[in-house]
This record gives sequence, structure tokens and C-alpha cells, in this order.
Amino acid sequence: MPAAPVVPSSMQAICFTEPGGPDVLHLETLQIPKPGRGEVLVRVMAAGVNRPDLMQRQGLYPPPPGACPRLGLEVAGEVVACGLPLEGATMPAIGSHVCALTNGGGYAQYCLVPAGQCLPWPKGFTAEQAAALPETYFTVWSNLFMPSLPPQGARVLIHGGTSGIGTTAIQLVKAFGGQVFATAGSPEKCALCEELGATAINYRTEDFLTRIREMTHDKGVDIILDMIGGAYFNRNLKSLAMDGRLIIIALQGGAKAEQADLARIMTRRLTVTGSSLRPRDSRNKARIAYELQDHVWPLLNKGAICPLIHATFPLAQADKAHAALEAGNHIGKIVLTVSPA
Ligand SMILES: NC(=O)c1ccc[n+]([C@@H]2O[C@H](COP(=O)([O-])OP(=O)(O)OC[C@H]3O[C@@H](n4cnc5c(N)ncnc54)[C@H](OP(=O)(O)O)[C@@H]3O)[C@@H](O)[C@H]2O)c1
Repeated sequence: MPAAPVVPSSMQAICFTEPGGPDVLHLETLQIPKPGRGEVLVRVMAAGVNRPDLMQRQGLYPPPPGACPRLGLEVAGEVVACGLPLEGATMPAIGSHVCALTNGGGYAQYCLVPAGQCLPWPKGFTAEQAAALPETYFTVWSNLFMPSLPPQGARVLIHGGTSGIGTTAIQLVKAFGGQVFATAGSPEKCALCEELGATAINYRTEDFLTRIREMTHDKGVDIILDMIGGAYFNRNLKSLAMDGRLIIIALQGGAKAEQADLARIMTRRLTVTGSSLRPRDSRNKARIAYELQDHVWPLLNKGAICPLIHATFPLAQADKAHAALEAGNHIGKIVLTVSPA
């Protein structure tokens, strides 16, 4: 049996004491935590950067009670220690390579993760690619594909087509037989959406409602994955087909929908829903992980879909990674690379 990895007592982690711009982020030396029941300790090799991290840094998205208050919602690395298993659960093997949805604290050399939130690295993946998976795959799968898969040929509109979430959603909907429309804010970003198999709409030069009506011969789309919220609410409702579903996962365009046309929900039998991944409990996240491993990991393993990495930064340059995501020129994901302690 291979010897258990030696775990040092301290690690480097990105911290901030006051909310603010990217420059509030700095490295600190911290004690490495020990895994509790049902938890594993991961030696982090790469950590994904997500827009919710920017909001947390700005003080706009406080971690839920009990979660690690530090940044970092997804990691890839090696399991170096395990707590006792929860009843009926199995733990990943020491030494195995996992990617994991964390409960915070991923911007660090070591991170504690509930075992049920770990998934294996897909075949041939680098640490950076594996770290780019959990946050967007858990979010897109739980919102678009649970509790049931969209029917074959379903028409799906994805706002923010070149975001981490958008690039994942386009690929997954295509892989499961859907027809995708996606909004993006420049010709280059629209070209990337088209490369991924979506019909792109440049939301800065075209009205997405008009385009959806034209392209669907006034039928509308069956599902919308929306990250804009208030500013798009009415046009989203008008873009939906009979029995359509609007899924709101972010509110970049405001949390209030002025003059919302509620009659349209009634007369078109629409469903308006939404969710936030982070406050879900570990059992709920483990259920999503289980479905992902079953339905999506085979596609990643055979290279049918893969995450798009825009740029990588070393852990110490988390501030630069945040500034790059904030600048909004990225296509796909930004990832931190983490060297051993
Ligand atoms: N609910 C959840 O559980 C959950 C989980 C993870 C993320 N999220 C949310 O999902 C969103 C994407 O996250 P991410 O990490 O992938 O962020 P990201 O890569 O920074 O993406 C932000 C996207 O928003 C798009 N956008 C901004 N204004 C737009 C508009 N008026 N119309 C269409 N698109 C617009 C941008 O498109 P252009 O660059 O083309 O302008 C960009 O693609 C964020 O709002 C995040 O908070 C929610």
C-alpha cells in the first residue's frame, strides 16, 4: 500500500479582511484544517474563479452560515486525508485525484470538502481543466436538467453565452439534443457561441426578443437560463413558448422586475423559477454530483464536451485573476494554479 501523503501544518491561502476591489486580496499563512466526519482534505492544484467570488469579495454575497468564509468554490487536487465516513457513504481514496465543489476556501494550498461533493478528474484532464468544472456543471445541471431532462429538440435560450456558466450550458444542452440560442456582447463572443453550436444574438446591437421571435417563427423558446434578472424579465417572458420555463440564476440587471406582465405567466402557462447553488446542503449537492457522474462525466471522459479556459494565474495573483474576470473580456473560465506548500 502506498504511504499516506505527508501533510504539513501550515499553508498559504488567499484572504481579505475588508470588502473592496481586487487589491484587498492577499496571501496569509494559516493552519491546515483536519477533516471532520464525511470530509476530505484536498491538496489543491488548481482553483476556479467565479463571478460569485467577486461578489463575495465586494461584500455583496456573504457565505451561508457554517461555510468557510474564504474565497474559492471549486478545486482540483489530490485527496491527502479523510475523516470518518458518514453512514452508508464511501470516501474517495487517499491519493486519488478529484475535482470538488467546495463550501468555500478553495483559493488555498489545502481545502476541506464534503466527500459527496468530489468527482474524479475526467480522463486526460489537467488540474486547471478539472478545477474549471464543478461550479458551472453543478449549477447548470441542477437548474436545466433536474428533476427531468429537457425533451429532445427543446429550444433553449442562454444569456451570457460565453461566461463560464454559458459555455457549459451551451455544450450540455447541445449534447442532450437541444437547440440553443445564446446572447453575448461582441462579434467575437457571438462567434464563439456559434462555434459551440448555438445561434448567437449580440445583445448590444440586437433585441433578443425580436430575434427569438423571428428565429422561432413566433413560437418562442421552451427554456431560458437567465443571469440578468429584472432588466430582462418582461422580454424573457415574451420570448417563452407555451408551457415555457424561465430559470433565473443571477441578477446582474437588478432584482426588481418593473411592470412585470404577470398575465403572460397565466395565459402561457409559464414557470418562473431559479436557485442559488451555495446555500444548498451537502446532501443536495451530493445528489447533483451523483447525477453529474452518471450523465455528464462519460461525455467529459470521451472528450465530447470540455471546459474553455481563458487564462490561468498563480494563486498569489488572485487579485489579477479577479480584475481579469471583472474586465469581462474573457471567454470561458479563469483558473488559479496552486503550487505545493
Ligand atoms: N445561481 C447560482 O447558483 C449561480 C452559480 C454560479 C454563477 N452564477 C451566476 O451566473 C453568472 C455567470 O457566472 P460566471 O462565473 O460564469 O461569470 P462570468 O464568466 O463573469 O459571466 C458573466 C456574463 O454575464 C454576461 N452579461 C452581462 N450583461 C449581460 C446582458 N445584458 N445580456 C446578456 N449577457 C450579459 C456577460 O456577457 P458579455 O461578456 O458578453 O457581456 C458574461 O458572459 C453570474 O451572474 C453568476 O453570479 C449563479
